[in-house]
Amino acid sequence: MSLTGQVAVVTGSSTGIGRAIALRLAQDGADICINYVHHAEDANAVQAEIKQTGRRAIVVCADVSQVPQARQLIAEAVAQLGGIDILVNNAGIEVIQPFLEVTEENYDRVLAVNLKGAFFCTQAAAQQMVRQGRGGRIINISSVHEDLAMPGNAPYCASKGGMRMMMRTVALELAKHNITVNDVGPGAIATPINRKTLENPQLLAALKAEIPLGRIGSPEDVAGVVSFLASPEAAYVTGSTYFIDGGLMRQTGAL
Ligand SMILES: NC(=O)c1ccc[n+]([C@@H]2O[C@H](COP(=O)([O-])OP(=O)(O)OC[C@H]3O[C@@H](n4cnc5c(N)ncnc54)[C@H](O)[C@@H]3O)[C@@H](O)[C@H]2O)c1
Repeated sequence: MSLTGQVAVVTGSSTGIGRAIALRLAQDGADICINYVHHAEDANAVQAEIKQTGRRAIVVCADVSQVPQARQLIAEAVAQLGGIDILVNNAGIEVIQPFLEVTEENYDRVLAVNLKGAFFCTQAAAQQMVRQGRGGRIINISSVHEDLAMPGNAPYCASKGGMRMMMRTVALELAKHNITVNDVGPGAIATPINRKTLENPQLLAALKAEIPLGRIGSPEDVAGVVSFLASPEAAYVTGSTYFIDGGLMRQTGAL
């Protein structure tokens, strides 16, 4: 149990990848702050599952795109669980729309959740980690689209590209406090965010053909790498992105 005695906050952790990360970090021994914005019942179910493992788990409703709520999320974790050692910025949305038709409203929503939310959660968590004086881990759930262009998804790609440069810069600023900052970049993972593709046999076959390992990833595939980055084994890892994409980035020649 490499994370025993540590506290992890996972944003957007009532579903999908965030849920798998919350469950995995609890298995590793961490106490967990589950965050959700809609559907309290899903968050409560994750909490019940974690409590069965013997770890502490709290549920906090907060819209991370609203800076006061992002700050309150971190404050609640500290007040109820006694501190914060690991922050996973997982909350994210996408609005598929041709670039020529993207509305200001949709642009603002995507950037506010994916980038501004991660920025101010990171700032609040890092301020607390500096006060605690025992280092910390910031792990952003970015995407292959922090590097790989995706026509029809410009605001999302802009948000994840921004997350990459935020991670690289903040990693340098926080290194002196022994706080590491890394991105995890999933490829195609079976979660609600890409239900439309998963439910369309033609789109699914075309997607699989792009993936050298020949399958869609699972939320647990992502959680395993997050677990490693949060663990003592990753103490010397900072400022990088780890793609979990079945080889997609190599296939496309994106990097
Ligand atoms: N599934 C994939 O193929 C894939 C690929 C690359 C990156 N990602 C990234 O993984 C992360 C998780 O996505 P997922 O695939 O699990 O989909 P998901 O829709 O299940 O998860 C997103 C979570 O974020 C939450 N959320 C949305 N807006 C929020 C807000 N304002 N405040 C707090 N929480 C909010 C949602 O309620 C949801 O629980 C996202 O950042 C996404 O961009 C997913």
